Amino acid sequence: MPMVNIRTQEHIYIADSEQPLIDAVPDSAVMKGCLKGVCRVCRCKLKGGVVYESGNQVAVGQEFLPCISYAHSD
Ligand code: FES
Repeated sequence: MPMVNIRTQEHIYIADSEQPLIDAVPDSAVMKGCLKGVCRVCRCKLKGGVVYESGNQVAVGQEFLPCISYAHSD
């Protein structure tokens, strides 16, 4: 299980690249809702790195849903 560093506005967390990104951050760092990619309350904007949402690579600057997304790099 490759591990990657996830940086939010204030902290850095370590994530398992085989687990959804939202599992690596505490509730205080991102809003959590359905955890299925439906409610969209968890949406974030990608500032850098390689993230896949539902198998599609997210472009830098694009919003994504960390509950259904996986980091492939820091
Ligand atoms: S928690 Fe509902 S879309 Fe992510």
